[in-house]
Amino acid sequence: MKIRHALLLISLATASLLSAQTQPLPTYLDDTKPLEERVEDALSRMTLEEKIDVIHAQSKFSSPGVKRLGIPEFWTSDGPHGVRPDVLWDDWKQAGHTNDSCVAFPALTCLASTWNTDLARRYGESLGEEALYRGKDMMLGPGVNILRTPLCGRNFEYMGEDPYLASRMVVPYIQGLQSKGVAACVKHFALNNDETYRNEVNVIVDDRALYEIYLPAFKAAVTEAHTWGLMGSYNLFENQHNCHNQRLLNEILKGEWGYDGVVVSDWGGAHDTRQAITNGLDMEFGTWTDGLSFGTSNAYDNYHLALPYLALIRKGEYGTRELDDKVRRVLRLFFRTNMNRQRGFGSQCSEAHYAAARQIAGEGIVLLQNTNGVLPIDTVKTRRILVVGENAIKMMTPGGGSSTLKAQHEILPLDGLRQALGNGIEVEYARGYVGDPNNEVEGVPAPYDLAEQRSPQELRDEAVAKAREADYVIVFGGLNKSWHQDCEGADRKEYGLPYGQDSLIEALADVNKNLVYVNISGNPVAMPWKDKVPAIVQGWFLGSVAGEALADVLTGRTNPSGKLPYTWMAALDDVAAHRLGTYPGTWRKDEKIIDEEYKESIFVGYRWADKENIRPLFAFGHGLSYTSFNIGKAQADKKEITASDSITFTVSVTNTGKLAGAEVVQLYVRDCESSLPRPYKELKAFRKVRLAPGETREVRLTIGKAALSYYDDRTKQWTAEPGRFEALIGNASDCITSKVTFRLK
Ligand code: BGC
Repeated sequence: MKIRHALLLISLATASLLSAQTQPLPTYLDDTKPLEERVEDALSRMTLEEKIDVIHAQSKFSSPGVKRLGIPEFWTSDGPHGVRPDVLWDDWKQAGHTNDSCVAFPALTCLASTWNTDLARRYGESLGEEALYRGKDMMLGPGVNILRTPLCGRNFEYMGEDPYLASRMVVPYIQGLQSKGVAACVKHFALNNDETYRNEVNVIVDDRALYEIYLPAFKAAVTEAHTWGLMGSYNLFENQHNCHNQRLLNEILKGEWGYDGVVVSDWGGAHDTRQAITNGLDMEFGTWTDGLSFGTSNAYDNYHLALPYLALIRKGEYGTRELDDKVRRVLRLFFRTNMNRQRGFGSQCSEAHYAAARQIAGEGIVLLQNTNGVLPIDTVKTRRILVVGENAIKMMTPGGGSSTLKAQHEILPLDGLRQALGNGIEVEYARGYVGDPNNEVEGVPAPYDLAEQRSPQELRDEAVAKAREADYVIVFGGLNKSWHQDCEGADRKEYGLPYGQDSLIEALADVNKNLVYVNISGNPVAMPWKDKVPAIVQGWFLGSVAGEALADVLTGRTNPSGKLPYTWMAALDDVAAHRLGTYPGTWRKDEKIIDEEYKESIFVGYRWADKENIRPLFAFGHGLSYTSFNIGKAQADKKEITASDSITFTVSVTNTGKLAGAEVVQLYVRDCESSLPRPYKELKAFRKVRLAPGETREVRLTIGKAALSYYDDRTKQWTAEPGRFEALIGNASDCITSKVTFRLK
């Protein structure tokens, strides 16, 4: 009896062990199974209500998973320059956590200025690690809206004016980020090129400009980087809001480009339940619903893609075809991110992230002008430096709207210079002007007291008096992240520098010949005093390492190699959107919609400057170095190519100066015989090369049919027309040193 009992126990134990071992994982949890099988399996297990749940927010930045099936919640965060501090569940106010400070990376305009695709990858990877550590599954960025007007308050979050440059830089950023199991959410799709009236503006643009200028970077994000997320924009196109826009989302994005990821609404960008159902929106965030307005706790149920959608299904007005498509996309997103068992744990504020930030900043800073070699600062002869300007002591990581950050450190320019120059040189400071004296932005206290009692005249007199005694005067001016500056939600009011900086700069130039102006901004600004100021540096918003990276360049520790990602016009009237009187648009009679017609079509930035013969202050692609380079005569490997072929240009680059440095070789294509109007030239390839003094390297640049094509709006096709072309090679759009003619058969 005892033996039989023991045997029974043993066999029961074995059976249960075996069953524990062999109990198969449900397909959706089994990551050895193909993605689409997992998606279908999960979908088949979900109730109608659960499906509705996963397609809209449950808090400001998260959406629910499926509790019953063990599918976790999904967490998003801004984006795009670092991981935003956590906000309250149902409110925009910061949550007051003490574990949510980050490394603030340089703004995307700076990244674009590096023209270094490896750095874009490193940016994405570093940000992905920060996001992982903070438990975020999707970063709301990067932004690739084209700079059409320098007044746009959000240009600092984007990658400049050129579709090719933005495409080449956005792809590795997304690949780097997503290699960590964190989704990108490329934004704002599309035509969101100014901020004022961003919810009411209906953009009217022809198909050529749409396909050739405004869409390519998004297309590259989708078809090359395979972004898992994309955010619709606030504005309208063809009279429909872009978060549920039939043409943009269903026809182009999901149709022509075969996008399999999610379309996320911009926060509050969904306006219509039926359009949200049918026109391509997959996940709704940030909506303030009728009557409940901001932050009422059950408002989430009233989102368009929540109970209102469910009610329409229950009434039989919609089946579940659209819903299942949305849920499939959301499930794909989950399996790629928060249900990816292979993903790591990330890291926050690591040395590696600071190092990445510093290198990106160092390579993105642009030396715009350096008359008589005023820079780098001569640290042997210099005894006394005067630093002037509010931007030397003002934090730029908080503020600016949704890209606001709580940086673990932000080294300010004044401190960076003092650190770099050590004890031998006296670094004095004078405020010079008052911009925004707020001592706290987004809960982040200012390190220097910005309150100021003195009058503008007193501030100026002090700066000028001290400037007379200094060996160098370094002004840190420009814009800031306050409302109507470089800030989301509104555009700048003027192209000129705010806060009376122009006359201050001129007064300083009158008394000191070693004047250096460092412009902190994401946008070009007017510089009526340009010829009076020997050295001008574009210093962007550089994040945590701003002061260190700027000091590196000013003292020559870093040899600058940044190149402008946009054309720096002398006056607003030189910008097509303004010359043609198209900005900000014309209100319709009902005053609900403002039409903005992009009359300049494909002629944006340098394309416009070339066409109209406008000499900008600084051209697209321009940027100086402390060394000098010689770009040799380019050679092509053939004289004629076919549409399936490619052509390679070889050019030698020599560092002819005394310092190591990097040069960006830029190749522009000119279509000499075309049946449609084309820009005089367009960037189609580039390469950054690092050279020791005296070193020469051969650079090879290859282009194919795509580089020769335009979008033919008559046939709705990309077309490369046979005929004569030129490859124009140089180191800036206004400095072409070599020209090679070839033919397309
Ligand atoms: C911005 C988005 C941002 C979102 C969430 C919106 O106002 O336009 O870029 O990601 O808010 O903060």
